[in-house]
Amino acid sequence: MRPSPHGLEWNTFRVLITFVYTLEEIVERRKALVNAAGIAGLSALATSSLYAQGIGKTRLGNAIIPPEKEQGKEKHVPFIDAPRSVKAGEPFSVTVEVGRVVPHPNTVEHHIAWIQLYALAEGSPALVNVGTFEFAPTYGAPKVTFPVMLQKTSTLLALGYCNIHGLWDNSIEVSVQA
Ligand SMILES: [Fe+2]
Repeated sequence: MRPSPHGLEWNTFRVLITFVYTLEEIVERRKALVNAAGIAGLSALATSSLYAQGIGKTRLGNAIIPPEKEQGKEKHVPFIDAPRSVKAGEPFSVTVEVGRVVPHPNTVEHHIAWIQLYALAEGSPALVNVGTFEFAPTYGAPKVTFPVMLQKTSTLLALGYCNIHGLWDNSIEVSVQA
């Protein structure tokens, strides 16, 4: 056995030296990683502004298919049944149904997954999501009836989502009397 300068056996000394160098390497690598993460974080912050990234040209509304696409053979257009005139704050029944004219398939592979109803009150800039209804294919049919209350004359807008044919919409006006 070769003695080390500190009286340790040579092999033990070599293991200790390797261990110390490995520790130093780990510390240095960790420092480098922290620095890299910091730089990445800063650059993410710099490009997180919506305007720095650019605004998407496609609007969701452009992808919604209007009722005219299925005129006379509506299979996806949500029908909205509601009185055209109601009293302010009094509940009235609204039915939204997809596939009233031509029944829509109701299989796991092809079905109406959900219906949403929105209200846009006269003079208001913001839509209100009045209700969202999801359907389990083969168990639930895409038809809902529920009470709605309005304070102002409004447009009721319905959306129906087919898992194959996308988003379809329709709307009606409901006049509200004080
Ligand atoms: Fe469909």
